[in-house]
Amino acid sequence: MKVAVVGATGLVGTKMLQVLKERDFPVTTLIPVASEKSVGKEIEFCGKKYKVVLPEEAIAMKPDLALFSAGGSTSLKYAPLFAGAGCVVVDNSSAWRMDPTKKLVVPEVNAHVLTEDDKIIANPNCSTIQMVVVLKPLHDKYKIKRVVVSTYQSVTGTGVKAVQQLKNEREGKKGEMAYAYPIDMNLIPHIDVFLENGYTKEEMKMVNETKKIMGDDTIQVTSTTVRVPVMGGHSESVNVEFENEFDLEEVRNILEHAPGVVVVDDVANLKYPMPLYAQDRDEVFVGRIRRDFSIPKALNMWIVADNLRKGAATNAVQIAEILLKKNFLKSPSHDVANAL
Ligand code: A2P
Repeated sequence: MKVAVVGATGLVGTKMLQVLKERDFPVTTLIPVASEKSVGKEIEFCGKKYKVVLPEEAIAMKPDLALFSAGGSTSLKYAPLFAGAGCVVVDNSSAWRMDPTKKLVVPEVNAHVLTEDDKIIANPNCSTIQMVVVLKPLHDKYKIKRVVVSTYQSVTGTGVKAVQQLKNEREGKKGEMAYAYPIDMNLIPHIDVFLENGYTKEEMKMVNETKKIMGDDTIQVTSTTVRVPVMGGHSESVNVEFENEFDLEEVRNILEHAPGVVVVDDVANLKYPMPLYAQDRDEVFVGRIRRDFSIPKALNMWIVADNLRKGAATNAVQIAEILLKKNFLKSPSHDVANAL
């Protein structure tokens, strides 16, 4: 496969390269793509060096697959051009997620919606991905009525500039600010832009994307998203109200067998998920599983995952793996191999 990574010099793009390599994705040629300022820079991948190019040059090289993580406007402009050149795009920005003609996919939840005709596939928001991986098996069993979620999101979700801001503040250095306020020794209850309804766009992503991925508009979601001075890993306090009664032991058992989920829930031995320990892992960790005594049929959980991996790069590569497995990703080299 000729694989383009658009945003290859960014935090998620770098992680995408790492995940492609780790998972042995069949990359024959890598096309690293970034902005003008990075053109010509060399990126090493599987022992070979590749020069960073602009999106236009990448399109001319006719990639089979493009993983995008270079912001919404880059995706809006270039994803259709890549797709038009015969390439399948998996896009990590929010540009296409709520477009009714585009699929929004978390492989553990709704891989079945993918078809051969999907040429631009959206990778969901990081906080939504880790939540739905845990919610889906519970929804299948007990039917979810309502979810109340509060997030504790790492600075890596904002990008390179935010990581630098936190480092600068810790070292007492002045520098460019990614946020309107200091982030070290602070929390910022504001992720993405504010909307007219008083919520942030990040909060509404969690509301709308959850319904779309789970394929159920009746699930009510309300969200508060908060940036915290953590380097890697998003955490979430999630309260779920079910339609049907549940048994706590059965909930644990369901989650222990759920794909992509690891239960870390042994409070007697101080075992619960934490972002520091979720770093560099592809699974979603869940713990503090307990009944909400304030209303019937409700559950509290604490969900943690590496936002750059399952929340972004790993999920995108997993989508590509499914396309490959279902034979929806056709490369010229494949055709030759099949013809022989
Ligand atoms: P560059 O490093 O050349 O600016 P992050 O979100 O971690 O800051 O990364 C954003 C990524 O998106 C970077 O790789 C950045 O490249 C890339 N990018 C930003 N704007 C464009 C653009 N117009 N065309 C291609 N890549 C872009």
